[in-house]
Amino acid sequence: MISQIRKANTGDTKSIASLIESLRLDMAGFVWNEVKFIEKQIQNGEYFLAESAGSIVGIISLRQRKNTIHIETLAVAPEHRLQKIGTQLVDFAKSFTKERGLRDLCACSFFEYKIGNFYTRQGFLLRPDPGQYDGHQYHIFVAKV
Ligand SMILES: CC(C)(COP(=O)(O)OP(=O)(O)OC[C@H]1O[C@@H](n2cnc3c(N)ncnc32)[C@H](O)[C@@H]1OP(=O)(O)O)[C@@H](O)C(=O)NCCC(=O)NCCS
Repeated sequence: MISQIRKANTGDTKSIASLIESLRLDMAGFVWNEVKFIEKQIQNGEYFLAESAGSIVGIISLRQRKNTIHIETLAVAPEHRLQKIGTQLVDFAKSFTKERGLRDLCACSFFEYKIGNFYTRQGFLLRPDPGQYDGHQYHIFVAKV
């Protein structure tokens, strides 16, 4: 069970990078675990952590582009999956979107992650056309919150 979701600070960079290791794909443009990339999002106040018993069990980073909030990174530590932590982080993203006075939330997921209906069962629609990044296809999910 999550004890809290809190804003990340620069002292969390290493823990975030190591959690993202579980997402790493073999591509030159895989930036999500790069210290510079993580620190920039932390400095922008866009990185949040789910904690349980004092340890980081999940991470989410959010970014506003135009009038849409994008879930930039979402990961739950492998040993804590299927305990609804991912769902709670998506709920957090929904609240964050509403607090900014916005309604559009978007998430992308590389085919390789095989997340099944994780987003669609939380009210997201799967866009019919996938995106492509660095030779890897990804699903695009959108929700109105
Ligand atoms: C995707 C991810 C964030 C889900 O987090 P989680 O805490 O395990 O998910 P939850 O426990 O909240 O699952 C909610 C529902 O989605 C389903 N689900 C979760 N992961 C799934 C998967 N890989 N395949 C199929 N269904 C899945 C669960 O079965 C659950 O269904 P239920 O409501 O019937 O019980 C986590 O598996 C993860 O970090 N994966 C690697 C990174 C990733 O794919 N990130 C998302 C794309 S950026």
